[in-house]
Amino acid sequence: MKTAVYPGSFDPVTRGHLDVIKRSSKICDELIVAVIHNPNKKSMFELHERVAMIENSIKDLGNVKVDTFVGLLTDYVTSKNVNVIIKGLRAVTDFEYEFQMALMNKGICSEIETLFMMTSPEYSFLSSSLVKEVAVLGGRVNEFVTDYVYDQIMNKLGKGGEK
Ligand code: PNS
Repeated sequence: MKTAVYPGSFDPVTRGHLDVIKRSSKICDELIVAVIHNPNKKSMFELHERVAMIENSIKDLGNVKVDTFVGLLTDYVTSKNVNVIIKGLRAVTDFEYEFQMALMNKGICSEIETLFMMTSPEYSFLSSSLVKEVAVLGGRVNEFVTDYVYDQIMNKLGKGGEK
């Protein structure tokens, strides 16, 4: 496979996302991690912060780059001359929504294929939303994200320096 796009909000990137990034990077020549800029969705981290956290986490992966997009994913993917979208699947609960999005994207652009990468079992419960919820309520999230991301979360919550 030549180039594939792995899209998401990555607010923030978790070890589950990184697992999908690492494994996907082994089966394609180039992987573009595409971070959505959605002005209508409230995020904990600004776009540039979400990008910086991913870039910090993928330094060792030579064929992975990070980009941003606004609007339709299919427009972005087409603009990059790519026809493969990679999505992570954690559990049955992800399936219905992901299936719907994959079919809608196919309906918008029939050339684009969506491939699903099953999560590694140890990350099957992990989501950015849960990491944020636990962190906001004072729980420990350091094992779910990289040290860099953990520090960014703590800084955001005004708890910089806490381990
Ligand atoms: O990490 P997320 O929040 O699950 O990522 C969702 C994302 C960004 C992949 C999805 O919302 C998306 O593709 N948004 C772009 C807008 C779009 O194309 N909408 C139609 C999708 S069927």
